[in-house]
Amino acid sequence: MKRILVTGGAGFIGANFVRHLLGHSDAMITVLDKLTYAGNRGSLHGLDEQRVQLVVGDIADANLVDELVSYHDAVVHFAAESHNDNSLLDPGRFVQTNVLGSFTLLEAVRRHDVRFHHVSTDEVYGDLALDDADRFTEDSAYNPSSPYSSTKAASDMLVRAWVRSYGIRATISNCSNNYGPFQHVEKFIPRQITNVLIGRRARLYGHGNNVRDWIHVEDHCRAVALILERGTIGSTYLVGADGERDNLSVLQLILARMECDPSDFDQVIDRPGHDLRYALDASLLRKELGWAPLHQDFASGLDQTIDWYREHRAWWEPLKAETERRYALREAI
Ligand code: NAD
Ligand code: TYD
Repeated sequence: MKRILVTGGAGFIGANFVRHLLGHSDAMITVLDKLTYAGNRGSLHGLDEQRVQLVVGDIADANLVDELVSYHDAVVHFAAESHNDNSLLDPGRFVQTNVLGSFTLLEAVRRHDVRFHHVSTDEVYGDLALDDADRFTEDSAYNPSSPYSSTKAASDMLVRAWVRSYGIRATISNCSNNYGPFQHVEKFIPRQITNVLIGRRARLYGHGNNVRDWIHVEDHCRAVALILERGTIGSTYLVGADGERDNLSVLQLILARMECDPSDFDQVIDRPGHDLRYALDASLLRKELGWAPLHQDFASGLDQTIDWYREHRAWWEPLKAETERRYALREAI
């Protein structure tokens, strides 16, 4: 696979994936990214310009997408509106990008018979009770809660239907919560790290018992590359690293690693419809493709992430004030 089109490659996971491909393949990469508030040219700075080209555009632009897809060997589709809190305030753009944008890409790969990998989330399965012994598997029923997760679920369904009805060569991965470098400061972990760095108190929704299943973004990117290369066409793979932790513990670990008092945070209004717990079983990926996470130690992954935000203030500082302004409106409701 030589020419790969990466949608959303200027976002958090997409930019990490482009770096992974550069280091582990000889692929030529085109990034298609609209550079929304979440996209950042700076996330691609310094990369080999002979091998990475950025096209600024919308995945729902059928003409542009058709032209780009026509001369690539594969599409890896990360582009999305990705934040639950935003989806509660402005769901329309989630339907537009996550559903119509994905549809536009599917039609183009169908026309040109191009391999397609769709990047999705475990949130399509809804949530689990805190004391449930079960975890999500590839066979769990879809039961999304938010506008974000329901539009991701819709896009997964489109991919499945395009495989079955039109025989496109596609795979899907549903991953748990990622952390690591280049993540937008609106998300939980970088929001708290950067709050501490600017001398603001950290913010916890409700009591913080909600559980997320954390995975380092590099482990997610390795999984996507492996599925692209060796995954079974038509299959769905769950990607997770057995990293269940409640939000309060994660926050207190961040505060401890940053040498702050563990009680140095504010509890703020909870998210409406807040999913309680995500947990997934990645056995299929482990057994069929031999994948295993390399970042097994969450505390050291967090330390690296904290160091990255310390060392890359120019990347995130321009985003911080506007992000906190949006959160202040939410917290005032
Ligand atoms: P992100 O918000 O950081 O990046 C999304 C990127 O998509 C941005 O660069 C943005 O400019 C671009 N984009 C948005 N709308 C576009 C459009 N209409 N056309 C072209 N580009 C557009 O998101 P992320 O966290 O990197 O997530 C990437 C993918 O991974 C998403 O599909 C998300 O659902 C999925 N995912 C994320 C997580 C996570 O923890 N972040 C976990 C599992 C799955
Ligand atoms: P988030 O990073 O938004 O990811 P997701 O909604 O996809 O799980 O949030 C992770 C968890 O952290 C979620 O349970 C909500 C919670 N949270 C806070 O407690 N405080 C915050 O400031 C944010 C942004 C999230």
